[in-house]
Amino acid sequence: MADKKRETFGSKLGIIMATAGSALGLGNIYRFPCEAGANGGAAFLMVYLALALLIGTPLMISEFVIGRRSRSNPVGAFKRLSGARSAWPVVGYLGVVCAFLILAFYTTVAGWTLGYLGKSVAGHFGGQDLEAIQQQFSDFTNHPWLPVACQLAFLALTAVVVMRGVKDGIERWSKILMPMLLVIMVVLCVKSLTLSGAGEGLRFFFKPDFSKITGRVVLSALGQSFFSLSIGMGALITYGSYIGRRDNMVSSAVGVALADTLVAVLAGVVIFPAAFSFGIQPEAGAALAFTTLPMVFQQMTGGYFFCLIFFLLLVIATLTSTISLLEVIVAALTEELRLPRRKAALVGAAGTAAIGVLATLSFRTGSPLHIGASTVFDLLDHLTALYMMPIGGLLIVLFVGWKMKRADVMAELTNEGTLRAGLRKGILFIVRYLAPVAIAVIFFSQLLM
Ligand code: PHE
Repeated sequence: MADKKRETFGSKLGIIMATAGSALGLGNIYRFPCEAGANGGAAFLMVYLALALLIGTPLMISEFVIGRRSRSNPVGAFKRLSGARSAWPVVGYLGVVCAFLILAFYTTVAGWTLGYLGKSVAGHFGGQDLEAIQQQFSDFTNHPWLPVACQLAFLALTAVVVMRGVKDGIERWSKILMPMLLVIMVVLCVKSLTLSGAGEGLRFFFKPDFSKITGRVVLSALGQSFFSLSIGMGALITYGSYIGRRDNMVSSAVGVALADTLVAVLAGVVIFPAAFSFGIQPEAGAALAFTTLPMVFQQMTGGYFFCLIFFLLLVIATLTSTISLLEVIVAALTEELRLPRRKAALVGAAGTAAIGVLATLSFRTGSPLHIGASTVFDLLDHLTALYMMPIGGLLIVLFVGWKMKRADVMAELTNEGTLRAGLRKGILFIVRYLAPVAIAVIFFSQLLM
């Protein structure tokens, strides 16, 4: 019954593009370089690659299994697959809350991308030196209302697309724009690599110093891989519920994981050589991407246009991610509370705005929006990526590996036996044993220290 009413993505390319749209975003271009820069560069990259491919990809597939099997939002999915009396739906609620908290701080930086798109149209970076560009970032984030206005505009844009529904809104955008982003990243790489002093940045990013790998670095890499692949909180359960019966979930997930990893690595290859060449610290944090990239554009012929196209694509890549976050909330509100889609999108966006504005304002110098030493922004970021997503991910693999019937899981993985089982048995093995043990060890060893 539910199958008939529910929308599905129009094609295999549609799922891949929508999922890639969710995965590719600020996590790759903004958060990954921040985390890699703060955690020792290459050492972080190695751990990240291992975790994203070995644990992250099977977890993506697990979410697709839950989504397509149940054809439901994360809360409804656990209710349907485990019975309403069980405690499992808590995982779904956790996911919806997590989507909401991520959306709150994610739209802070999303707003900046919109602001920077405006700056590139106005040509604010032309002829400016490093100091001036750093000053622009600090002026922008310290402005009393501009970043808030940008954030609210971004949320409004997200809500408008989500109101129009999955296929029209989400699928159509992602299909055209994700490949374009990849192309411009490659162009930027070439430029960055030819800057003087680029070699030092490459060494920082690719030559690992294994003594830098601590428990904290590993947990940060795990959190980053979950964040970047949009897993551990139900976004891909939600998208999985729109996948058609005949589509190949395994190859789609592998394709998206590879593309996501590629874009993160490309972002590193653009940002670190350039940062070292300009004398920007790799630990510069929030400012890293927003100062390095405008500096790279300065050095390029046609820099004005490249800068403009880049920020336009970044806005759109970010938008396809915020859409997937709001969609988690909207799917839960429409199916569990029977709200109409429009209303659900408005409620979700308004709720997000209330907390999100605090995250944005917490960036201002001297802002009282701190709890202990952390800003509201950092707090939301750490709470979700270092705690909620690892716990969510752990529970999801346990659910698929141990609670669901093995035959049901294999039926999903092989499209009712029409696809080859060999590789898929390997995936199920990782989901049952390797992934839960690895996540638990990484998470709890850090918690206890
Ligand atoms: N994966 C997105 C990014 O890297 C962020 C995101 C996280 C989106 C969780 C949806 C769910 O930008």
